[in-house]
Amino acid sequence: MPRDNGSQLRGRHFLDLDRIAPADLRRMLDFAAAYKRGRPPAGAAKPLAGKALAMIFEKPSTRTRVSFELAIKQLGGDAVVLERGSSQLGRGETIADTARVLSRYVDAIMVRTTKEEKLLELAAAATVPVINGLTDRTHPCQLMADVMTFEEHQGPIKGRVVAWSGDGNNMATSWIHAAVQFGFELRLACPPELPPPADVVAWAQARGGRIGVTADVERAVKGADCVVTDVWVSMGEHEPTNQHNLLRPYQVDERVMSLAKKDAIFMHCLPAHRGEEVTAAVIDGPQSAAWDEAENRLHAQKGILAWCMMPEGWGAKPAKTPSRRGAKR
Ligand code: CP
Ligand code: NVA
Repeated sequence: MPRDNGSQLRGRHFLDLDRIAPADLRRMLDFAAAYKRGRPPAGAAKPLAGKALAMIFEKPSTRTRVSFELAIKQLGGDAVVLERGSSQLGRGETIADTARVLSRYVDAIMVRTTKEEKLLELAAAATVPVINGLTDRTHPCQLMADVMTFEEHQGPIKGRVVAWSGDGNNMATSWIHAAVQFGFELRLACPPELPPPADVVAWAQARGGRIGVTADVERAVKGADCVVTDVWVSMGEHEPTNQHNLLRPYQVDERVMSLAKKDAIFMHCLPAHRGEEVTAAVIDGPQSAAWDEAENRLHAQKGILAWCMMPEGWGAKPAKTPSRRGAKR
């Protein structure tokens, strides 16, 4: 099925990195970094005062949930959480009806769900911005924190080399999007049975992205500025019996890290499984930036929220909600 191009979507949604202009992505990171340094851009220190975010979780979360809730609160707003099992979603209310109702209460909706179609259905029915908090296909919010973390440790990411070792999963897809939008080289080492989606690689290559896919970890990692991996089995995946066997050669251990640049960092979106995709010596070792990366979810969410909810400009007071029939408040 051809991917929806989003033409029916209104509003300023944060759905995927490939749908947003690179200059806007950069502005979100600048905003995040300014808040992290305690120097918010000119204007209100609480630019989202009076605004509210609804968060829908159809899969578990620790970082995404806590960081979004705290980010909006620290920007002056409020958050409310809906979980599938304890809401009417769990009893069959449609995602579109949920979007219509939540749009009457809140100013943005973040959703973590399974199929991308559900995210797009939500965004099509919502009259407020929708943020992708992870689907089976992508995890764009995580990449904002990841690029921020890379740049804190290694300087500008443009022209640098990131190596991925593992499953060609939702994180791998968002890394490919990021490589094109931020202009870095991405080398993915994946088992031939678990490659990143061909349409995503083709999208990147058509845009001149420097994306290499190989089964050879050493080739991917050699001389890289950063080595990244992720779990062997993602949330909601039926664990194929041989997935662990396929991914075992892609474990990031000290030998793999030694092939990268001497000052290379290791990143992992977490949660991690020590002894599977990464050894304890690496994730708990001196090259690991995983904890900065987790912290940066909090800061990066602020840039994303501000971009979605303050389209009139950073640091400016939020515009009044445009009057529309039946609008909230
Ligand atoms: N990395 C990440 O998204 O973590 P959670 O699943 O805990 O939100
Ligand atoms: N690929 C992982 C990422 C978790 C944040 C998953 O989807 O479970």
